[in-house]
Amino acid sequence: MPNSPELITDLTQLAQWVQAQSAAGLSVGLVPTMGALHAGHLSLVESAAQHSDSVLVTIFVNPTQFAANEDLQQYPRDLEGDLQLLQSVAKVTVFAPTVADIYPLENSTARNVESNKLDDVAMRWEGERRPGHFLGVTTIVHKLFTLTKPQIAFFGRKDYQQLRVIEQLTEERQHNIKIVGCPIVREEDGLAMSSRNAYLTTAQRTQATAIYKGLQTACNMANNMEMAATELQDVVRKQLANAEINGIDYVAVVHPKSLEPLALLDRTEQIKQIKLGAIILVAVFVGNTRLIDNIFIPPNNS
Ligand code: PAF
Repeated sequence: MPNSPELITDLTQLAQWVQAQSAAGLSVGLVPTMGALHAGHLSLVESAAQHSDSVLVTIFVNPTQFAANEDLQQYPRDLEGDLQLLQSVAKVTVFAPTVADIYPLENSTARNVESNKLDDVAMRWEGERRPGHFLGVTTIVHKLFTLTKPQIAFFGRKDYQQLRVIEQLTEERQHNIKIVGCPIVREEDGLAMSSRNAYLTTAQRTQATAIYKGLQTACNMANNMEMAATELQDVVRKQLANAEINGIDYVAVVHPKSLEPLALLDRTEQIKQIKLGAIILVAVFVGNTRLIDNIFIPPNNS
């Protein structure tokens, strides 16, 4: 019978655990999550198990990354279920702190990663649509890095912009931690796995499959012919419209590092940049549920 992973719920216990790993010369792989774990999270945990001696999965629904109008209260929480799911992976320890442990001062939603440290990568797309979101993300990730002292940390590429922001945070705050971006895990019909998929009705769940179909179609076209960013965006938008997904927040073909929109360039330059490799980012509302996804257009040397 697989055993439930060790569960740490307070900071003293965590400090002891961190100290014990270090004393034993064991490397720590960190997988930060907000719980409601699914196969996407499990793939991060499995990668962490391959690349480190001990795996620490943090489960914490971080209030500072939710805006007032967002789904903090509603966000799915299932610690029991999460622990059960993690039984399948060896050498996992779970750290599930309280809000008071992480933010000990009242109102200490006070973000201690100053906003001016977030550059353009954090300011566009999700940063623009969800003001304060990346301040909350960088605050919690910086705290987790400091508290848990991992050598390596794993994040999903579904939140591609978040991954880029965390890479920058790591550099800026001089954390000596290797950041690994893991591939997006999809349902059989292509929908990217997300804890928020649980909000979808059956009909919305079917509609949502248009997101990946649109991304795939655009990516195939980019691989096979000369397409401008604006044209690829239209391909995705058309697929979304066919599925009656009308709440499009953005569809953008962007530079994979800076996340700058290629559509601002002239057509020849757009095509040139896409050939060097690009990402298509999508954020849509399906009903009231906001879903994000992306696809990488690989460099094309032909
Ligand atoms: O991607 C998430 O689940 C969260 O944004 C993270 C990185 C765990 C920070 O709360």
